[in-house]
Amino acid sequence: MSTETITVQATKAKETVVGPVVLLGPPGAGKGTQAKRISAHFGIPQISTGDILRDNINQGTELGKQAGVLMERGELVPDELVQQMVTDRLAKPDCARGFILDGFPRTVKQAEWLDKHLAKNHFFETDTSCKRLVVIQLTVEYTKLLGRLTGRRTCPVCGHIYNANTSQRAKVEGICDVDGATLVTRKDDRDDVISQRLKNYRRQTLPMVNYYARKNRLVEIDGAADLEVITAAAVKAIENGNRL
Ligand code: AP5
Repeated sequence: MSTETITVQATKAKETVVGPVVLLGPPGAGKGTQAKRISAHFGIPQISTGDILRDNINQGTELGKQAGVLMERGELVPDELVQQMVTDRLAKPDCARGFILDGFPRTVKQAEWLDKHLAKNHFFETDTSCKRLVVIQLTVEYTKLLGRLTGRRTCPVCGHIYNANTSQRAKVEGICDVDGATLVTRKDDRDDVISQRLKNYRRQTLPMVNYYARKNRLVEIDGAADLEVITAAAVKAIENGNRL
């Protein structure tokens, strides 16, 4: 493919109405990593409920105080609190062409709420297929998830995600390739908290995966593949409006 064709395709992707995209998967499946890549491809925002909660914790807000205690134990934050956060974020103008929800919904209740919220706000079930909700599930086997979570390092400045145990290593150990900041380990990436998060995923989030599967809205992608392969499959699913 010529450079000119690639440039035209990239510009087109940044002008298309993409609609809502949900990225699902267990802790460590690569939701954050892929959300950033898909966001850059289409020029639409990544909305990570985990990141918004961590920002609130860092700023010492009331929400951050309530959420912090639960997150350090690997528990979910109550549906109502997270739903309000998502309502506020989706009302911002940068969501007009579409958005990627990373880590939301996470319970059947949140998924039901999202369906209603999108319908009310005209994002959903329109006759333009590209505006339909696209739900992508990243699947990765349990043992791989543990290795990924214990090796994860994040840049506190630009949010870039690295891994000391995989090919996603920083060029200089502990230092961000992009801005030279010292990388940090998330507080909930401790063995005991990881195991609680994985347990909660099976108990509270897997039923929600079945909710989307029953509605024939689930696209499964192998989250153990190379980053580029996963992004290409996700972009295709989004462009085809839920059909790989
Ligand atoms: P959140 O921040 O959403 O965490 P999570 O769902 O546990 O997911 P992670 O961020 O751990 O993993 P990820 O799938 O994004 O993987 P990543 O791309 O980093 O939530 C944190 C907490 O907030 C929750 O426990 C809960 O308390 C609360 N919360 C958030 N949302 C909520 C909600 N809706 N309701 C209630 N509570 C909520 O990748 C992991 C590692 O793997 C990285 O190091 C990366 O470099 C590496 N990697 C990624 N892809 C690949 C690949 N293909 N090959 C090799 N390595 C890879």
